Amino acid sequence: MKILVTGGAGYIGSHTIIDILESSDYEVVSIDNYSNSSPETFDRIEAITSKRVKNYNINLADYNALKREFFDVESKIDGIIHFAALKAVGESVEKPVMYYQNNLNGLINLLKCVHKYHVKNFIFSSSCTVYGNTDGEAVTEQTPTQETESPYGFTKLVGERMLADFSKTKDNFKSISMRYFNPVGAHMSGMIGELPLGRPNNLVPAVTQFASGWLDQLTVYGTDYETRDGTPIRDYIHVSDISHAHVLAFKYLVENVDSQANDVFNLGTGAGVTVLEVLDAFERSTGVKLDYTLGPRRNGDVEIVYANNEKAKTVLNWIPAHSIDDAMSSAWKWQEHLNSIKSGGRVHHEES
Ligand code: WQD
Repeated sequence: MKILVTGGAGYIGSHTIIDILESSDYEVVSIDNYSNSSPETFDRIEAITSKRVKNYNINLADYNALKREFFDVESKIDGIIHFAALKAVGESVEKPVMYYQNNLNGLINLLKCVHKYHVKNFIFSSSCTVYGNTDGEAVTEQTPTQETESPYGFTKLVGERMLADFSKTKDNFKSISMRYFNPVGAHMSGMIGELPLGRPNNLVPAVTQFASGWLDQLTVYGTDYETRDGTPIRDYIHVSDISHAHVLAFKYLVENVDSQANDVFNLGTGAGVTVLEVLDAFERSTGVKLDYTLGPRRNGDVEIVYANNEKAKTVLNWIPAHSIDDAMSSAWKWQEHLNSIKSGGRVHHEES
């Protein structure tokens, strides 16, 4: 079995490649144009797994290149796990056409190749952002999706629908959309993790970079929400739990003859955690004190969203194994690794 992982040099893609290599005998090949990641990721994967993964530096939005430089070259691809996409919520509001062009054309070209090269299995990286603002209860896969706050979120909503509609036209093709909640943490080795370009948008890299002196301020965006401590609630899921769900999902597609032609799964812990509780978990699990600032709300933030993850647990036999404390301690271990390799200035900011 050979799996194509797109975005293999990225945060969730690299962790998924490691999990596939460590928990299955599937062969893995990657397509990543390093627009938000770096080639060093494959050195890190090799250091952890002793296996060299081949990456093709191709822009998925270039259909001819995708055919000629990948699918005409690689022998049969049994499945695709598609992570490669632009994912900065704020940037997508400023540059919507770039997001639609990149994220949707990339998926369209892959689906055209699925048809042309008879690929049978496909897993799509989606997001809890498709639920928009919720009523405070855990969301299930049946919870209605809503008009998303950002073009980024809309590319995920449209992507899910494109995959579902395409699946209806194909016999012998099975697909899954995975709705990630908030991916956090790093591989327990501390040798690979999240490294966003520039100033981090997401909470946990902002925390670890602030704690390392890379940022001069850590702001809590809003303390007047209708939650137990006034700060927003999210479902912070360890990246290694997310990556393992993909291995289980791929096996489910390949081995389960009665699996649906197209299905959707929430990947979250099932527990909602506030921003201040994340900061407490960081201080508790690392011993590092955070002198953060309380500030105004951030535009576009929803108040509460967290998962009902029963479907993934029962259908995929998936059990999230890491706590919020594990996420904080592994994120800090990765940050300390980065701190040790930076020479004077900050490390070259590539996601890894
Ligand atoms: C979480 C909470 C912030 C930074 C987005 C996308 C989602 C996925 C993950 C890509 C919010 C607060 C943050 C900071 C803060 N994207 N915060 N200070 O917005 O829930 O989800 O990223 O895979 O699809 O929607 O994640 O980490 O940005 O924010 O107070 O410096 O932390 O206000 O309440 P978000 P986030």
